[in-house]
Parts: sequence; structure tokens; C-alpha cells
Amino acid sequence: MKALILVGGYGTRLRPLTLTQPKPLVEFANKPMMLHQMEALAAVGVDTLILAVSYRADQLEQEMGVYAERLGVKLVFSLEEEPLGTAGPLALARSYLEGDESFFVLNSDVICEFPFQEMIDFHKKHGREGTIAVTKVEEPSKYGVVVFNESTGQISDFVEKPQDYVGNKINAGLYMFNASILDRIPLRPTSIEKEVFPKMASDGELYAYVLPGFWMDVGQPRDFIRGTTLYLEYKRQTDPKSLGSEDKYKGNVLIDPTAVVGNDCKIGPNVVIGPKVHIEDGACLRDCTILVGSIIRCHSYINKSIVGRKCTIGRWVRIENVSVMGDDVVVNDELYLNGASVLPHKSISSNVPVPGIIM
Ligand code: GDD
Ligand code: MG
Repeated sequence: MKALILVGGYGTRLRPLTLTQPKPLVEFANKPMMLHQMEALAAVGVDTLILAVSYRADQLEQEMGVYAERLGVKLVFSLEEEPLGTAGPLALARSYLEGDESFFVLNSDVICEFPFQEMIDFHKKHGREGTIAVTKVEEPSKYGVVVFNESTGQISDFVEKPQDYVGNKINAGLYMFNASILDRIPLRPTSIEKEVFPKMASDGELYAYVLPGFWMDVGQPRDFIRGTTLYLEYKRQTDPKSLGSEDKYKGNVLIDPTAVVGNDCKIGPNVVIGPKVHIEDGACLRDCTILVGSIIRCHSYINKSIVGRKCTIGRWVRIENVSVMGDDVVVNDELYLNGASVLPHKSISSNVPVPGIIM
């Protein structure tokens, strides 16, 4: 079976983390975002994965190549000369997708339990051209809203980023299609949400599969932090041994075995600590992710924030309110960072009392 992942652009909304690596490689819960998807696809028998990219990324090809080989998945890079939107990439990859078999298409920035086998079964059962996984959200205007018959699943309407309230079930960015969808898509920049789904819905060819469990688009820092909380709770339910169990961890904490945590720290809830991270004595971490190789010095406090790779956070520092440190950032002792987005390789030596980008 085949799958195509819409990898797309530069991940601007997840800057500064995406200034030093492509978005699919940013570690979510200590694993590259895309690896969560690739593992789940391989588990249901996907053996060919097409990555639809609109820019060339050697780092992505190399790193994903290693994971693909390990999972026995063939990786194909489909490179667009100009960004083709969310449908155009299917036309470009037509030669790989054609045939009798249905295939998956995924947005690259969504995380959930990935119930792909259930999607396959659902898609076979209704027998029409397309299946969209849907989930319920509180703020539907940021997403594509799906209106469907709750008992049959048949979709009557698809409205991308609606201005007025249409419903609260939204497109979760996971699809399964028959190859006949390719006849609807021209080889030019095309939006699947605006130009393809509404027509498929009016033709009665589109069905909604209601996702069980959690879901999040983690392509922006605030949602990345919220998504981490949901993912860790899912781990608590399904694989509690993967979470830290020592007394110093409060609530759900995922910690790489190579990380070192000092004495009298308060870690948790909802904290992810990456490989080779060093947390010194008396530090307090809540609702945050610390990426590989970073050092958090004594008595610092980090809340609702992300610390990139190989950063050094000084002593008695306070970082909060969706601050994001790019890779290799140094924060001097005793500083306060409120909603600071700090570009890679910067050294911070004064307070950031008001949210903003530090260049
Ligand atoms: N290859 C390629 N080329 N990929 C692209 C392009 C492009 O020109 N443009 C966007 N993508 C990829 C993005 O990288 C992402 O993986 C996916 O297509 C969706 O684009 P986003 O920019 O993340 O869209 P969104 O989050 O505003 O909305 C989409 O996702 C929501 C769920 O998170 C829509 O599909 C909504 O309907 C949906 O609810
Ligand atoms: Mg998105």
C-alpha cells in the first residue's frame, strides 16, 4: 500500500525551531514528527511513502531515509518546482499513485493515535472515492469544517476556514482515496480543501471517519505544547512504562534515558526531556519540551515553552508563556523571558518582559 505525506513549505509557523531543521524532523515527544506517522503507516502495511516537498531538503532525505530503511519502507521524494498546494502534489505523483489500490494522504503536522487500520476498514465498507478523518474542536474557524450525516458518515459539505459557524467537526488532515480522485486534480497549484473536497461532497463520494482519541495540529508552538500534553496522557493510558516513574516526576513526564536530572528538581506535569539534556539541581519544569543536548542550570523555571537543541539556560532564569528558544541559544543567569521567540545561536543578556521575536 502507498501513502503520500504533504510536507510542503518551510514550517514558518513553527519558527524558530524550523530555521535549523525541516518541520517533519522537529522532535515531538522525543521523536521526529514525521516518524510518528511513518511508523503507524508501516504498521498497517504501507511499503511506499511519497514525500511531497516544495523545497529540496538534503537533511530530510538523509534522516528520513535511515528511518525508512529501518521500517522496510521505500521512500520517494516528489519535488515541486513551485508549491502545488494540498492537491497539486497528488497530480505530480500520479505515476506512483495510479492503480487499483487505495492510498493514504496525510498532512505532515498532525498527531493523533493514527487508527489507520480502522480507516482502511471504513473506506472499504462505504466503497466511495474518499474518506476524511474528522475530529471535534472548540475553535473550528482555523480548520476545514466537515458537515456529514452522523449515521452513514456521508459528507454533504466541506468548508475551509469558515468565517461563520458551520459546525465543529473538522478535517483532521488524514485521508484515504481511490485512485479515481486523480482525475479531479490538475497539475497546477490546487487546494484539495477548496477545489476538490466540495465537489466530491456534492457528488456523494466523500465520507467522514470519526477519529477516536486525541488529535492536534502541532504546526504552531502553542498547539505543539498542548499536543504534547494530550500525547503524554495517551501514553499514560496505553504505555505507562514509557513515562518517568520516579518520585521527582509529577504527572506525565517523558524523559530520555541519557538525560540527567539533578537533586530537588520539580519536573512535571507534561514535560518532555530529550537525549543528553542536563537539568541541574532545583530546576522546575512544567508543560514544556527540552530538546536534545540542552542544559538547564540550577533553580531555573520553565513553563509552557520549548527549548531547542543544544541551548544553555542559565541559573535562576524564568521562561514562560509560549517562549521558544531556537537551537544553540544561550540565556544568561537571572533573566525573565515572557513569550520570547529567540532565533538560533543568539545569546540573551537582558529580560524580555513583552512577547516578541528576538533576532
Ligand atoms: N507538498 C506541498 N506543497 N505541501 C503543502 C503545500 C504545498 O504547496 N502547502 C501546504 N502543504 C502541506 C503542509 O506542509 C501541511 O502538511 C499540509 O499541506 C496542510 O497545510 P497547512 O498549512 O498546515 O494547513 P492548515 O493547518 O492551515 O489546514 C489544513 O490542516 C487542517 C488540520 O490541521 C487543512 O487541511 C484543514 O482543512 C485541516 O482542518
Ligand atoms: Mg497545519
